[in-house]
Amino acid sequence: MMHNAIPDYVQHKGLIQWVSTIAEKTRPERVVWCDGSQQEYERLCQEMVDSGTLKRLNSAKRPNSYLAWSDPSDVARVEDRTFICTDRQEDAGPTNNWTDPQEMRQTLAGLFEGCMQGRTMYVIPFSMGPLGSPIAHIGVEISDSPYVVVNMRMMTRMGRAVYDVLGSNGEYVPCVHSVGHPLKAGQKDISWPCNPTKYIVHFPKTREIWSFGSGYGGNALLGKKCFALRIASAMGRKEAQSGSTGWLAEHMLILGVQAPWGKKYHVAAAFPSACGKTNFAMLIPPQGLDQGGWKITTIGDDIAWIKPDAEGRLRAINPENGYFGVAPGTNEKTNYNCMASLKENVIFTNVALTDDGDVWWEGMGTPPAHCLDWQGRDWTPQIAASEGRKAAHPNARFTVASIQNPVIDAEWDNPQGVAIDAFIFGGRRSTTVPLVTEARNWEEGVYMAATMGSETTAAAAGQQGVVRRDPFAMLPFCGYNMAEYFSHWLELGDKLGRQGVKLPKIFCVNWFRTDDQGRFVWPGFGENARVLKWMLQRIEGKAQGEEHVFGITPRYEDIDWTGLPFSQDQFLRITAIDPKSWQDEFGLHAELFEKLQHGLPQTLLKTKSVLESRLEQRLAA
Ligand code: GTP
Ligand code: SPV
Ligand code: MN
Repeated sequence: MMHNAIPDYVQHKGLIQWVSTIAEKTRPERVVWCDGSQQEYERLCQEMVDSGTLKRLNSAKRPNSYLAWSDPSDVARVEDRTFICTDRQEDAGPTNNWTDPQEMRQTLAGLFEGCMQGRTMYVIPFSMGPLGSPIAHIGVEISDSPYVVVNMRMMTRMGRAVYDVLGSNGEYVPCVHSVGHPLKAGQKDISWPCNPTKYIVHFPKTREIWSFGSGYGGNALLGKKCFALRIASAMGRKEAQSGSTGWLAEHMLILGVQAPWGKKYHVAAAFPSACGKTNFAMLIPPQGLDQGGWKITTIGDDIAWIKPDAEGRLRAINPENGYFGVAPGTNEKTNYNCMASLKENVIFTNVALTDDGDVWWEGMGTPPAHCLDWQGRDWTPQIAASEGRKAAHPNARFTVASIQNPVIDAEWDNPQGVAIDAFIFGGRRSTTVPLVTEARNWEEGVYMAATMGSETTAAAAGQQGVVRRDPFAMLPFCGYNMAEYFSHWLELGDKLGRQGVKLPKIFCVNWFRTDDQGRFVWPGFGENARVLKWMLQRIEGKAQGEEHVFGITPRYEDIDWTGLPFSQDQFLRITAIDPKSWQDEFGLHAELFEKLQHGLPQTLLKTKSVLESRLEQRLAA
């Protein structure tokens, strides 16, 4: 094995030792310590162009941008191959896959033995959160995928400066990743190496992450879901158990809203995967609304780390440095700012390649007369019509640095974070759940978030369109027992409330109710600003609403409709509460609570029975 010299700025003996242990086990051909420089980025991209992993896009149309096509078997996170290995199974809880840590370590030992043969092993130092921020944490990912290196450089603060923060004995989360496709002497590589056997493994106690067999997204970019959500959520809870308030790691976007009355607000919103976080985080309020007096800026589009400050106010940072967003459905109308972010310096994965060397995906605009689909096959609108074959994979994504976003918030990398004024929770529900509901108090809000359901999309394989409970949009991301996670939220609210802190209001939204033909009734996207306006007015005590079974919703006249033709009838279609379907819905809540009964906070059961008796009264009336 060839070791390139360990750079002299790497002073951490423990880290050097760990890297050499992993190298001995996985036996790569060489080890490269990444410095995060632009030259390194360009060199790796060029190597991947040469090896066929990347295609360089037409530099007149999409400067400094690349396209990767993954193996058709490696296109999304693999939730059924994701494990939380705590000593006791109940600490992982019934919503996580669990294996005894000893047993899992043996499995991993077998899988990683020699798994990097013939490849380069990269050492990738990264910070989740601004370098040196009191809220930030460091990780080091070892990976045999250059695609991971270049993506990590955009998605995290990656490179040499991390070692300055780490010093000679700083703490870091060790992350080991292999595509699981070793090369024998003389064996030719393929454009997207991976392995049919996949394991995405977390050891919360030792804060380790081991990922085998996939090169895609959250399976491989280990700072994101594995560290910033699963490990970090367990870290935030653990701190609460040792006496402090603890903190929260959430699947939430964070946005800044400048209201026409001059005040700036910060809102964090949890929607499940592919349910509109990126869109909401970049939305452009309609011009008609208060003569363009609203401005929305992005702090984050996927993950929030939230901690009480000295006054007990909840402050949030975006631990990421870039966006790994869903491409299909994105266009100048649905998300203008996102399209503007994607003009240059982008890595696209699994979108279509046009004949002039640019990219295309469903919902981007007029389809090209011909292109190559995400598997490199000829694609024409005629083929699409006759075979139903899509040009881009539905979970095709772009990777882009946050700074390319034209509406990035001025505070987006403030190490102290921003103070949160409201939490929003929303799933994809074609029926039952109204456009927007305000919780009357923290407990009711936690109840709403805990019982949230959503119709499934790409990452939950094989069950598209089925409603599954996705508490807090964290079902695949909570690194410990979900029931205990509910307690963590309740206790945090309780502690802060007793300190006299004014807690953020909690709202529940649903942009996705459909009509009899299955079309969305609510126009969504920029028009969601109208709902946001109502929420912020509620915070100020300046808007009315109607109290009903589950909370407070606006009446038709409580929403500002300036410039949008949307009838009272249409409004009813997306806000009506059908008592019968809510009885069924409560049945599903009961199923969830049954599943999570071990350690389930009584507060949630009490809240449920209060809500149910309200519903019964309404049915009787
Ligand atoms: P992850 O990155 O997977 O966590 O997801 P995300 O929540 O960031 O997903 P994203 O914002 O990329 O949402 C993608 C899908 O949501 C696309 O199909 C969009 O068209 C759709 N979408 C976003 N906002 C709206 C909306 O307001 N209304 C409707 N109907 N669809 C929306
Ligand atoms: C999600 O699935 O919620 C994502 C994409 O944000 S991935 O990073 O692949 O998990
Ligand atoms: Mn996500």
